Amino acid sequence: MKKDLQSMVNVAVFASGSGSNFENIATSDLPLSIKVLIVDNKDAKAIERAKRLNVPYEIVERSGKTKEEFEAEILNILKDKNIEYILLAGFMKILSAEFIERYDSKIINIHPSLLPSFKGKNGILDAYNYGVKVSGVTVHYVDSGIDTGEIIDQEPVVLRDDDTLESFEEKIHEAEYKLYIRALKKVLEVKE
Ligand code: GRF
Repeated sequence: MKKDLQSMVNVAVFASGSGSNFENIATSDLPLSIKVLIVDNKDAKAIERAKRLNVPYEIVERSGKTKEEFEAEILNILKDKNIEYILLAGFMKILSAEFIERYDSKIINIHPSLLPSFKGKNGILDAYNYGVKVSGVTVHYVDSGIDTGEIIDQEPVVLRDDDTLESFEEKIHEAEYKLYIRALKKVLEVKE
């Protein structure tokens, strides 16, 4: 589908690390405009990607601030940008209930397991160590719990006996790239 400037949805993407999901969204044909990438870590590889892709970015670090100050700084960046959705893509900070309420049902996250299994920050490793035969990826709305919000879509990933943690991780990331776009198409009601 071609991007039509008239019907673009303004989003902000939040990331803390590599930013491969951010890049995948930024280079997709989704009818959205990434108004800003918020990064909470000045060493995040996501910053290099933003520079290369010409996406505006802001680094907001948490250290030396209260959680309220940290979030107020982010809200200040978002205000006046008409942000309709916040897309979390490997963002490692837990947002407060107050922040989430401001963007009620407008914050979306990708999690590398089939929720409600393996919540938390080690979804891939925990599933691998548990010895599951099938895991996967979930895109969900963010509520005030951890990885508990309403599920938008999921994609299974089969673990074969000869998979290593590395090959499993690779499969999970491939599934993420496919799923985040598919889930956003659903949310944005994009017709194929
Ligand atoms: C992904 O596995 C995502 O599911 C999790 O954090 C990772 C981010 O990877 N929430 P990247 O920074 O998008 O490469």
